[in-house]
Amino acid sequence: MTETLLVATRNRDKAREIAAVLGDLPVRVVTLADVAPELDIAETGATFLENARLKAVAAARAAGLIALADDSGLAVDALDGRPGVYSKRYAPTDAARNARLLAELHDVPDDRRTARFHCAVVIAGADGVLAEIEETVEGIITQAPRGEHGFGYDPIFRPRGATRTAAEMTLAEKNALSHRGKAFRKAAAWLRAWWGRAAGRCPR
Ligand code: IMP
Repeated sequence: MTETLLVATRNRDKAREIAAVLGDLPVRVVTLADVAPELDIAETGATFLENARLKAVAAARAAGLIALADDSGLAVDALDGRPGVYSKRYAPTDAARNARLLAELHDVPDDRRTARFHCAVVIAGADGVLAEIEETVEGIITQAPRGEHGFGYDPIFRPRGATRTAAEMTLAEKNALSHRGKAFRKAAAWLRAWWGRAAGRCPR
């Protein structure tokens, strides 16, 4: 039986990302644009998890479907965790956000430029939250942007143990170690087990 999963986003790239991770499941992925175009969910949470919860619960209720929402961003230790849940709103464009962070860290030495990307994923159904997943990837903020791939803060983030920034990696290389890659793979495993149980089969 084909299940339907609502990915609570209007970002088709994100929907494609989760659909790829769910590749071997008989699942149809839809987005808010498909089933609840009017729904406007304010991201008022103080944490990534709270925001993901708000989006997943509101989407599941509005559409009557199992909904998955994610919220992600960058936390820099020398800036007390900023930009955090304001990652998307830290400046008007990706280039301006990166420039702002580099300016704020201009006198911070390499050994204190530690940072991490967070990704919170929440899966909800009609009765509320079903599962919560949080993953991170540790790294440092470089002295200057490097690389053309990816998006957001990728050009100034070098994952721990890597010699290149996330923007110098292919999408496959980044997904293998990224906060969202790890969280989406866990979410896929959870859904596989949950749908397996729902159908009376043993989860794989
Ligand atoms: P969202 O909640 O996933 O839309 O992400 C919020 C913001 O965090 C994005 O607009 C980016 O600025 C930043 N961000 C999240 N994940 C990444 C990533 O993998 N690379 C670079 N920036 C990211």
